[in-house]
Amino acid sequence: MSRSILPARALRGSLRPPSDRSITIRAALLAGIAHGESAIYAPLHSDDTEAALSCLARLGVPIVEHDGALRIRGHGLRGLRAPIQPLFCNASGTTIRLMAGLVAGQRFDTTLDGNEQLRRRPMRRVTEPLQQMGAQIEDTNGCAPLRVHAAQAPLRGIDYTLPIASAQVKSALLLAGLYADSPVVVREPAPTRDHTERLLRGLGVEVTPQPQGEGTRIMLTPPERPLPAFELTVPADFSSAAFFIVAAVLTPGSTVRLTEVGLNPTRTGLLDILNAMGAQFTVEAIGEACGEPIGTVEVRASELRGVEVSGALIPRAIDELPILAVAATQAHGVTVVRNAEELRVKESNRLEGFLAELRKLGARAEPTADGFVVEGPTPLRGATVDGLNDHRVAMSLAVAALVADRQTTLLGAECVAKTYPHFFEDLATLRAEL
Ligand code: S3P
Repeated sequence: MSRSILPARALRGSLRPPSDRSITIRAALLAGIAHGESAIYAPLHSDDTEAALSCLARLGVPIVEHDGALRIRGHGLRGLRAPIQPLFCNASGTTIRLMAGLVAGQRFDTTLDGNEQLRRRPMRRVTEPLQQMGAQIEDTNGCAPLRVHAAQAPLRGIDYTLPIASAQVKSALLLAGLYADSPVVVREPAPTRDHTERLLRGLGVEVTPQPQGEGTRIMLTPPERPLPAFELTVPADFSSAAFFIVAAVLTPGSTVRLTEVGLNPTRTGLLDILNAMGAQFTVEAIGEACGEPIGTVEVRASELRGVEVSGALIPRAIDELPILAVAATQAHGVTVVRNAEELRVKESNRLEGFLAELRKLGARAEPTADGFVVEGPTPLRGATVDGLNDHRVAMSLAVAALVADRQTTLLGAECVAKTYPHFFEDLATLRAEL
Protein backbone atom coordinates (compact mmCIF):
# COMPACT_ATOMS: atom_id res chain seq x y z
CA MET A 1 0.00 0.00 0.00
CA SER A 2 1.33 3.43 -0.86
CA ARG A 3 0.63 6.66 1.05
CA SER A 4 0.78 10.19 -0.28
CA ILE A 5 2.30 12.58 2.21
CA LEU A 6 1.95 16.32 1.73
CA PRO A 7 4.31 18.85 3.29
CA ALA A 8 3.04 19.98 6.71
CA ARG A 9 2.52 23.60 7.71
CA ALA A 10 2.81 22.86 11.43
CA LEU A 11 2.02 20.04 13.85
CA ARG A 12 -0.02 20.83 16.93
CA GLY A 13 -1.69 18.92 19.71
CA SER A 14 -1.33 16.21 22.26
CA LEU A 15 -1.00 12.50 21.67
CA ARG A 16 -0.40 9.30 23.60
CA PRO A 17 1.83 7.19 21.36
CA PRO A 18 1.13 3.45 21.21
CA SER A 19 2.34 1.27 24.06
CA ASP A 20 5.84 -0.07 24.28
CA ARG A 21 6.61 -3.06 22.07
CA SER A 22 9.63 -4.30 24.04
CA ILE A 23 7.77 -4.17 27.37
CA THR A 24 4.55 -5.74 26.01
CA ILE A 25 6.47 -8.74 24.65
CA ARG A 26 8.54 -9.19 27.80
CA ALA A 27 5.52 -8.86 30.10
CA ALA A 28 3.56 -11.42 28.06
CA LEU A 29 6.40 -13.95 28.13
CA LEU A 30 6.85 -13.59 31.88
CA ALA A 31 3.09 -13.84 32.47
CA GLY A 32 3.21 -17.11 30.52
CA ILE A 33 5.61 -18.66 33.05
CA ALA A 34 4.26 -16.96 36.19
CA HIS A 35 1.89 -18.72 38.54
CA GLY A 36 -1.73 -17.59 38.05
CA GLU A 37 -3.53 -14.98 35.97
CA SER A 38 -1.59 -11.81 35.14
CA ALA A 39 -3.18 -8.68 33.67
CA ILE A 40 -1.29 -6.48 31.23
CA TYR A 41 -3.11 -3.18 30.81
CA ALA A 42 -2.67 -0.98 27.74
CA PRO A 43 -0.72 -3.65 25.84
CA LEU A 44 0.56 -2.79 22.37
CA HIS A 45 -1.43 -4.43 19.59
CA SER A 46 0.84 -4.68 16.60
CA ASP A 47 2.32 -7.30 14.29
CA ASP A 48 5.26 -7.90 16.64
CA THR A 49 3.21 -8.30 19.81
CA GLU A 50 0.67 -10.53 18.04
CA ALA A 51 3.58 -12.75 17.01
CA ALA A 52 4.71 -13.09 20.62
CA LEU A 53 1.17 -13.88 21.82
CA SER A 54 0.64 -16.49 19.11
CA CYS A 55 3.86 -18.24 20.18
CA LEU A 56 2.69 -18.29 23.79
CA ALA A 57 -0.67 -19.68 22.71
CA ARG A 58 1.15 -22.50 20.89
CA LEU A 59 2.96 -23.24 24.15
CA GLY A 60 -0.44 -23.84 25.72
CA VAL A 61 -0.80 -20.51 27.54
CA PRO A 62 -4.41 -19.27 27.69
CA ILE A 63 -4.68 -15.59 26.71
CA VAL A 64 -7.86 -13.52 26.64
CA GLU A 65 -8.46 -9.82 26.33
CA HIS A 66 -10.90 -8.30 28.74
CA ASP A 67 -11.49 -4.71 29.96
CA GLY A 68 -8.52 -3.39 27.98
CA ALA A 69 -6.14 -5.89 29.56
CA LEU A 70 -4.47 -9.01 28.26
CA ARG A 71 -5.18 -11.73 30.79
CA ILE A 72 -2.58 -14.43 30.61
CA ARG A 73 -2.78 -17.54 32.75
CA GLY A 74 0.61 -19.01 33.50
CA HIS A 75 1.19 -22.37 35.15
CA GLY A 76 4.64 -21.67 36.51
CA LEU A 77 8.13 -22.09 35.11
CA ARG A 78 7.38 -25.70 34.12
CA GLY A 79 3.82 -25.06 32.95
CA LEU A 80 4.45 -24.59 29.22
CA ARG A 81 3.32 -27.41 26.92
CA ALA A 82 5.14 -28.94 23.97
CA PRO A 83 3.98 -27.07 20.86
CA ILE A 84 2.52 -29.14 18.04
CA GLN A 85 3.62 -26.63 15.42
CA PRO A 86 6.70 -24.41 15.08
CA LEU A 87 6.49 -21.11 16.95
CA PHE A 88 6.07 -18.57 14.16
CA CYS A 89 7.64 -15.27 15.18
CA ASN A 90 6.68 -13.50 11.95
CA ALA A 91 9.12 -10.56 11.63
CA SER A 92 9.79 -10.06 15.32
CA GLY A 93 13.46 -10.27 16.30
CA THR A 94 12.59 -9.61 19.93
CA THR A 95 10.11 -12.50 19.95
CA ILE A 96 12.41 -15.08 18.40
CA ARG A 97 15.49 -14.19 20.46
CA LEU A 98 13.70 -13.93 23.80
CA MET A 99 11.66 -17.06 23.05
CA ALA A 100 14.89 -18.93 22.30
CA GLY A 101 16.02 -18.16 25.85
CA LEU A 102 12.67 -19.10 27.32
CA VAL A 103 12.37 -22.48 25.60
CA ALA A 104 16.07 -23.43 25.87
CA GLY A 105 15.56 -25.00 29.30
CA GLN A 106 12.19 -26.68 28.64
CA ARG A 107 11.85 -30.44 28.62
CA PHE A 108 10.31 -30.53 25.15
CA ASP A 109 11.36 -29.81 21.56
CA THR A 110 10.52 -26.48 19.96
CA THR A 111 11.13 -25.01 16.52
CA LEU A 112 11.30 -21.24 16.24
CA ASP A 113 10.78 -19.70 12.85
CA GLY A 114 9.78 -16.47 11.19
CA ASN A 115 9.07 -14.84 7.86
CA GLU A 116 11.67 -14.35 5.14
CA GLN A 117 12.88 -11.09 6.61
CA LEU A 118 13.42 -12.61 10.06
CA ARG A 119 15.12 -15.64 8.51
CA ARG A 120 17.84 -13.32 7.20
CA ARG A 121 18.71 -11.88 10.63
CA PRO A 122 21.64 -13.19 12.71
CA MET A 123 20.75 -15.73 15.41
CA ARG A 124 24.11 -17.21 16.34
CA ARG A 125 24.57 -14.37 18.81
CA VAL A 126 21.87 -16.07 20.86
CA THR A 127 22.32 -19.78 20.01
CA GLU A 128 26.04 -19.75 20.88
CA PRO A 129 25.78 -18.57 24.52
CA LEU A 130 22.67 -20.73 25.03
CA GLN A 131 24.71 -23.75 23.88
CA GLN A 132 27.38 -22.77 26.39
CA MET A 133 24.65 -23.00 29.04
CA GLY A 134 24.02 -26.58 27.92
CA ALA A 135 21.00 -25.91 25.69
CA GLN A 136 20.54 -28.21 22.69
CA ILE A 137 19.81 -25.51 20.16
CA GLU A 138 20.74 -25.39 16.48
CA ASP A 139 20.41 -22.57 14.03
CA THR A 140 20.24 -22.80 10.25
CA ASN A 141 23.46 -21.32 8.90
CA GLY A 142 23.39 -18.80 11.71
CA CYS A 143 19.74 -17.88 11.15
CA ALA A 144 16.18 -19.11 11.81
CA PRO A 145 14.67 -21.66 11.88
CA LEU A 146 16.07 -22.56 15.29
CA ARG A 147 15.60 -26.09 16.57
CA VAL A 148 15.60 -26.51 20.30
CA HIS A 149 15.73 -30.03 21.73
CA ALA A 150 14.30 -31.00 25.08
CA ALA A 151 16.72 -30.14 27.89
CA GLN A 152 17.85 -33.36 29.62
CA ALA A 153 19.19 -31.50 32.66
CA PRO A 154 18.96 -28.00 34.11
CA LEU A 155 20.87 -25.40 32.12
CA ARG A 156 24.22 -24.31 33.52
CA GLY A 157 24.98 -20.83 34.76
CA ILE A 158 27.29 -18.76 32.59
CA ASP A 159 29.50 -15.70 32.81
CA TYR A 160 29.14 -14.23 29.35
CA THR A 161 30.57 -11.08 27.82
CA LEU A 162 28.34 -9.87 24.99
CA PRO A 163 30.48 -9.21 21.89
CA ILE A 164 27.89 -6.60 20.85
CA ALA A 165 25.58 -4.55 23.04
CA SER A 166 22.23 -6.34 22.56
CA ALA A 167 19.25 -6.24 24.89
CA GLN A 168 17.70 -9.14 23.02
CA VAL A 169 20.66 -11.43 23.64
CA LYS A 170 20.99 -10.27 27.25
CA SER A 171 17.27 -10.92 27.81
CA ALA A 172 17.45 -14.38 26.24
CA LEU A 173 20.26 -15.34 28.63
CA LEU A 174 18.42 -13.94 31.65
CA LEU A 175 15.25 -15.85 30.73
CA ALA A 176 17.28 -19.03 30.22
CA GLY A 177 18.87 -18.28 33.59
CA LEU A 178 15.49 -18.86 35.26
CA TYR A 179 16.06 -22.54 34.36
CA ALA A 180 19.73 -22.71 35.32
CA ASP A 181 21.39 -24.46 38.25
CA SER A 182 23.63 -21.50 39.11
CA PRO A 183 23.79 -17.74 38.49
CA VAL A 184 23.96 -16.18 35.05
CA VAL A 185 26.26 -13.19 34.60
CA VAL A 186 25.94 -11.06 31.46
CA ARG A 187 28.47 -8.32 30.78
CA GLU A 188 27.40 -5.77 28.21
CA PRO A 189 29.91 -3.40 26.59
CA ALA A 190 27.43 -0.51 26.94
CA PRO A 191 24.10 -0.34 28.79
CA THR A 192 21.17 -1.62 26.72
CA ARG A 193 17.46 -1.46 27.51
CA ASP A 194 16.88 -3.08 30.90
CA HIS A 195 13.13 -3.82 30.79
CA THR A 196 13.67 -7.55 31.38
CA GLU A 197 15.72 -6.86 34.50
CA ARG A 198 13.15 -4.42 35.88
CA LEU A 199 10.24 -6.79 35.27
CA LEU A 200 12.07 -9.75 36.81
CA ARG A 201 13.02 -7.71 39.87
CA GLY A 202 9.37 -6.69 40.19
CA LEU A 203 8.56 -10.41 40.44
CA GLY A 204 11.09 -10.91 43.22
CA VAL A 205 13.89 -12.43 41.12
CA GLU A 206 17.37 -11.40 42.21
CA VAL A 207 18.82 -9.49 39.24
CA THR A 208 21.60 -7.09 40.11
CA PRO A 209 23.21 -4.65 37.71
CA GLN A 210 26.61 -3.19 38.43
CA PRO A 211 28.43 -0.58 36.36
CA GLN A 212 31.50 -2.08 34.69
CA GLY A 213 33.69 0.21 32.60
CA GLU A 214 31.44 1.85 29.99
CA GLY A 215 28.91 -0.95 30.37
CA THR A 216 27.06 -3.07 32.90
CA ARG A 217 27.48 -6.45 34.55
CA ILE A 218 24.13 -8.08 35.31
CA MET A 219 23.81 -11.11 37.57
CA LEU A 220 20.66 -13.22 37.85
CA THR A 221 20.25 -15.83 40.56
CA PRO A 222 17.81 -18.59 39.53
CA PRO A 223 14.66 -18.22 41.66
CA GLU A 224 13.71 -20.87 44.18
CA ARG A 225 10.06 -19.90 44.23
CA PRO A 226 7.54 -19.61 41.37
CA LEU A 227 7.16 -16.21 39.75
CA PRO A 228 3.95 -14.61 41.08
CA ALA A 229 1.19 -13.44 38.71
CA PHE A 230 1.22 -9.66 38.27
CA GLU A 231 -0.63 -6.63 36.95
CA LEU A 232 1.01 -3.80 35.08
CA THR A 233 0.26 -0.95 32.71
CA VAL A 234 2.50 -0.60 29.69
CA PRO A 235 3.81 2.95 29.04
CA ALA A 236 3.83 4.55 25.60
CA ASP A 237 6.80 3.56 23.46
CA PHE A 238 9.58 6.16 23.40
CA SER A 239 10.69 4.77 20.03
CA SER A 240 7.26 5.52 18.54
CA ALA A 241 7.13 8.95 20.22
CA ALA A 242 10.51 9.67 18.59
CA PHE A 243 8.94 10.15 15.13
CA PHE A 244 6.67 12.94 16.33
CA ILE A 245 9.40 14.43 18.53
CA VAL A 246 11.55 14.89 15.42
CA ALA A 247 8.56 15.83 13.22
CA ALA A 248 7.68 18.66 15.65
CA VAL A 249 11.29 19.84 15.88
CA LEU A 250 11.58 20.04 12.08
CA THR A 251 8.19 21.47 11.08
CA PRO A 252 8.09 25.26 11.58
CA GLY A 253 5.37 26.49 13.94
CA SER A 254 4.90 23.12 15.66
CA THR A 255 4.19 22.39 19.32
CA VAL A 256 3.44 18.76 20.18
CA ARG A 257 2.89 17.07 23.54
CA LEU A 258 3.48 13.35 23.88
CA THR A 259 2.01 11.81 26.99
CA GLU A 260 2.63 8.76 29.21
CA VAL A 261 5.88 8.14 27.37
CA GLY A 262 8.33 5.61 28.80
CA LEU A 263 11.46 7.52 29.82
CA ASN A 264 13.74 4.67 30.80
CA PRO A 265 17.23 6.21 30.47
CA THR A 266 18.42 3.18 28.48
CA ARG A 267 15.97 4.27 25.77
CA THR A 268 16.10 8.06 25.69
CA GLY A 269 19.46 8.68 24.05
CA LEU A 270 17.66 10.61 21.28
CA LEU A 271 16.70 13.31 23.78
CA ASP A 272 20.34 13.75 24.79
CA ILE A 273 21.33 13.95 21.13
CA LEU A 274 18.57 16.44 20.24
CA ASN A 275 19.53 18.51 23.26
CA ALA A 276 23.10 18.68 22.00
CA MET A 277 21.71 19.69 18.58
CA GLY A 278 19.86 22.63 20.14
CA ALA A 279 16.28 21.30 20.00
CA GLN A 280 13.75 22.93 22.29
CA PHE A 281 11.77 20.49 24.38
CA THR A 282 10.74 19.88 27.95
CA VAL A 283 10.39 16.58 29.77
CA GLU A 284 8.08 16.36 32.75
CA ALA A 285 8.35 13.19 34.82
CA ILE A 286 4.91 12.13 36.05
CA GLY A 287 5.68 8.89 37.87
CA GLU A 288 6.15 5.24 37.14
CA ALA A 289 4.45 2.48 35.21
CA CYS A 290 5.62 -1.13 35.64
CA GLY A 291 8.83 0.00 37.31
CA GLU A 292 9.62 2.34 34.41
CA PRO A 293 9.75 6.16 34.62
CA ILE A 294 7.10 7.83 32.48
CA GLY A 295 6.35 11.43 31.61
CA THR A 296 5.28 14.06 29.11
CA VAL A 297 7.56 15.32 26.38
CA GLU A 298 6.65 18.69 24.86
CA VAL A 299 8.48 19.69 21.72
CA ARG A 300 8.70 22.90 19.67
CA ALA A 301 10.03 23.56 16.22
CA SER A 302 13.70 24.41 16.58
CA GLU A 303 16.86 25.21 14.68
CA LEU A 304 19.35 22.37 14.91
CA ARG A 305 23.10 22.06 14.57
CA GLY A 306 25.07 18.96 13.54
CA VAL A 307 26.38 16.60 16.20
CA GLU A 308 28.72 13.63 16.65
CA VAL A 309 27.28 10.49 18.21
CA SER A 310 29.16 7.34 19.25
CA GLY A 311 29.99 4.94 22.07
CA ALA A 312 27.58 4.24 24.91
CA LEU A 313 25.00 6.62 23.43
CA ILE A 314 24.43 4.30 20.46
CA PRO A 315 22.54 1.46 22.24
CA ARG A 316 20.47 4.11 24.07
CA ALA A 317 19.29 5.44 20.70
CA ILE A 318 19.70 2.37 18.48
CA ASP A 319 16.16 2.38 17.08
CA GLU A 320 16.11 6.19 16.74
CA LEU A 321 19.17 6.52 14.51
CA PRO A 322 17.10 6.53 11.27
CA ILE A 323 14.92 9.38 12.51
CA LEU A 324 18.06 11.12 13.79
CA ALA A 325 19.40 11.01 10.21
CA VAL A 326 16.22 12.80 9.10
CA ALA A 327 16.72 15.46 11.80
CA ALA A 328 20.33 15.84 10.67
CA THR A 329 19.26 16.74 7.10
CA GLN A 330 17.81 19.96 8.54
CA ALA A 331 20.63 20.72 11.00
CA HIS A 332 23.35 23.27 10.32
CA GLY A 333 26.61 21.43 9.83
CA VAL A 334 27.66 17.82 9.71
CA THR A 335 26.24 15.00 11.81
CA VAL A 336 28.43 11.93 12.25
CA VAL A 337 27.25 8.63 13.78
CA ARG A 338 29.84 5.98 14.66
CA ASN A 339 29.83 2.52 16.31
CA ALA A 340 26.40 1.76 14.86
CA GLU A 341 27.21 -1.20 12.58
CA GLU A 342 24.23 -3.04 14.17
CA LEU A 343 22.01 -0.91 11.93
CA ARG A 344 22.97 -3.24 9.08
CA VAL A 345 21.14 -6.19 10.67
CA LYS A 346 17.84 -4.64 11.71
CA GLU A 347 14.60 -5.22 9.76
CA SER A 348 16.47 -3.78 6.79
CA ASN A 349 19.99 -2.52 6.29
CA ARG A 350 19.41 0.85 7.89
CA LEU A 351 22.76 2.19 6.74
CA GLU A 352 22.70 1.39 3.02
CA GLY A 353 19.06 0.98 2.04
CA PHE A 354 17.52 3.62 4.24
CA LEU A 355 20.04 6.33 3.39
CA ALA A 356 19.58 5.59 -0.33
CA GLU A 357 15.84 6.28 0.09
CA LEU A 358 16.58 9.45 2.06
CA ARG A 359 18.87 10.62 -0.74
CA LYS A 360 15.92 10.29 -3.17
CA LEU A 361 14.37 13.15 -1.16
CA GLY A 362 17.52 15.19 -1.71
CA ALA A 363 19.33 14.45 1.55
CA ARG A 364 23.11 14.53 1.63
CA ALA A 365 23.53 11.36 3.64
CA GLU A 366 26.14 8.65 3.19
CA PRO A 367 26.79 5.42 5.04
CA THR A 368 30.21 4.71 6.53
CA ALA A 369 31.58 1.36 7.72
CA ASP A 370 29.97 1.76 11.14
CA GLY A 371 27.48 4.60 10.83
CA PHE A 372 26.67 7.57 8.65
CA VAL A 373 27.45 11.16 7.82
CA VAL A 374 24.70 13.67 7.04
CA GLU A 375 25.30 17.23 5.87
CA GLY A 376 22.72 19.90 6.44
CA PRO A 377 20.67 21.87 6.11
CA THR A 378 19.29 20.49 2.83
CA PRO A 379 15.95 21.46 1.31
CA LEU A 380 14.15 18.15 0.74
CA ARG A 381 12.08 17.53 -2.37
CA GLY A 382 9.04 15.31 -2.67
CA ALA A 383 9.70 12.01 -4.46
CA THR A 384 8.65 8.36 -4.52
CA VAL A 385 10.40 6.40 -1.78
CA ASP A 386 10.16 2.86 -0.46
CA GLY A 387 9.66 1.85 3.18
CA LEU A 388 11.80 -1.27 2.53
CA ASN A 389 9.38 -3.35 4.62
CA ASP A 390 10.97 -1.73 7.67
CA HIS A 391 8.64 0.13 10.02
CA ARG A 392 11.25 2.61 11.22
CA VAL A 393 12.43 3.35 7.70
CA ALA A 394 8.85 3.98 6.55
CA MET A 395 8.04 6.28 9.48
CA SER A 396 11.35 8.15 9.16
CA LEU A 397 10.70 8.78 5.45
CA ALA A 398 7.16 9.93 6.27
CA VAL A 399 8.60 12.50 8.70
CA ALA A 400 11.14 13.65 6.11
CA ALA A 401 8.25 14.08 3.67
CA LEU A 402 6.63 16.61 6.03
CA VAL A 403 9.43 19.09 5.35
CA ALA A 404 9.76 18.38 1.61
CA ASP A 405 8.65 20.93 -0.99
CA ARG A 406 5.89 18.82 -2.51
CA GLN A 407 4.04 15.54 -2.20
CA THR A 408 5.95 12.35 -1.44
CA THR A 409 4.70 8.87 -2.27
CA LEU A 410 5.71 6.28 0.30
CA LEU A 411 5.56 2.73 -1.05
CA GLY A 412 4.98 -0.17 1.31
CA ALA A 413 3.59 2.08 4.03
CA GLU A 414 1.67 -0.78 5.67
CA CYS A 415 4.85 -2.06 7.37
CA VAL A 416 4.35 0.56 10.13
CA ALA A 417 1.95 -2.03 11.65
CA LYS A 418 4.97 -3.81 13.14
CA THR A 419 5.00 -1.35 16.04
CA TYR A 420 2.70 1.58 15.18
CA PRO A 421 -0.46 0.49 13.34
CA HIS A 422 -2.13 3.95 13.67
CA PHE A 423 0.89 6.03 12.72
CA PHE A 424 -0.71 7.79 9.75
CA GLU A 425 -3.96 8.47 11.64
CA ASP A 426 -1.99 10.01 14.52
CA LEU A 427 0.02 12.10 12.07
CA ALA A 428 -3.25 13.31 10.51
CA THR A 429 -4.54 14.33 13.98
CA LEU A 430 -1.46 16.46 14.64
CA ARG A 431 -1.77 18.14 11.23
CA ALA A 432 -5.45 18.89 11.70
CA GLU A 433 -5.17 20.94 14.88
CA LEU A 434 -4.15 24.22 13.23
C1 S3P B 1 15.07 -4.69 21.38
C2 S3P B 1 16.43 -4.50 21.40
C3 S3P B 1 17.18 -3.86 20.30
C4 S3P B 1 16.27 -3.05 19.42
C5 S3P B 1 15.04 -3.80 19.04
C6 S3P B 1 14.24 -4.21 20.27
C7 S3P B 1 14.44 -5.39 22.51
O1 S3P B 1 17.78 -4.87 19.51
O2 S3P B 1 16.96 -2.62 18.27
O3 S3P B 1 14.22 -3.00 18.20
O4 S3P B 1 13.22 -5.35 22.66
O5 S3P B 1 15.19 -5.98 23.29
P1 S3P B 1 19.19 -5.53 19.91
O6 S3P B 1 19.05 -6.12 21.25
O7 S3P B 1 19.47 -6.56 18.86
O8 S3P B 1 20.18 -4.42 19.88
